[in-house]
Amino acid sequence: MPVTSPIVVLDSGLGGLTVVRALRKVLPAEDILYFGDTARVPYGNKSGDTVTRFVGEIISYLQDYDPKHVVIACNTATALALPSIRKQFPRLTITGVVDPGAQAAVAGVGSCTAPRIGLIATEATVRSRAYEHAILHLRADAVFSATATPLLVPIIEEGRSLDDPLVRLAVQQYLAPLCKHGLDVLVLGCTHYPILKDLISHVVPPGVAVIDSAEQCAEDVNHRLTAAALRRTDQGEGVLRCFVTDDTPKFASLAERFLGLHLDIAPEWVSPESLYTPRRPEPLRAAV
Ligand code: DGL
Repeated sequence: MPVTSPIVVLDSGLGGLTVVRALRKVLPAEDILYFGDTARVPYGNKSGDTVTRFVGEIISYLQDYDPKHVVIACNTATALALPSIRKQFPRLTITGVVDPGAQAAVAGVGSCTAPRIGLIATEATVRSRAYEHAILHLRADAVFSATATPLLVPIIEEGRSLDDPLVRLAVQQYLAPLCKHGLDVLVLGCTHYPILKDLISHVVPPGVAVIDSAEQCAEDVNHRLTAAALRRTDQGEGVLRCFVTDDTPKFASLAERFLGLHLDIAPEWVSPESLYTPRRPEPLRAAV
């Protein structure tokens, strides 16, 4: 595929734009196609089969653009679907956000022994234990604890501001048990959560490093593209084109408000129905 092919980034909603922001810093010349499945958000309370189907539909829809890399910028989808999605699309290079998040977390603990690493994430991500396995693989002496924080994605998608008392209360309530347990590092195991990072950093005890996977993920994509001689070296800014399955005006304004990403091109609406791959029914009987 040509160097000019785009990078595809996908998430259930707005959250994956935190990864787009990091990619823009590291790879400014790349064209990015972003897909926010806003009609079917949240993914975090759905089954592995359902999330795998959604992600497969999105990649099928975008693969006509011949992407040179696909980032599943959703921890839930990475944790539940990455291995089967890779099998489904063997010709594409597909990466997720859990391994980069685990690497960033372990880098964040420095040299301390038996580091206490806490995770906040969706119910499905916590249940999958994907972070626990990835972190313990890198630091066998880590003391890992996790809390599901299912209200945070809907709160963020709703567009509430950081000084909203409801947002503050939810963050305080969710973090209290982890803070009581003791923490050296807190991993934001959902790509939506960096939008609340300032508030979360304020709520955790001083000295706790609050980590997300976006920068590490962008560096990982950079290395892969460079190694494959697929990194664009031309000057100028790449195009960011967004697709959403619902509520286009809200998506664009929240993207700007929270992420400072100006969308030059208005997000395109894709109906969830149009994502379903048209199937040619198998003949019931073999032809004679
Ligand atoms: N940004 C997704 C993640 O990283 C949100 C999941 C959801 O839609 O619940 O997990």
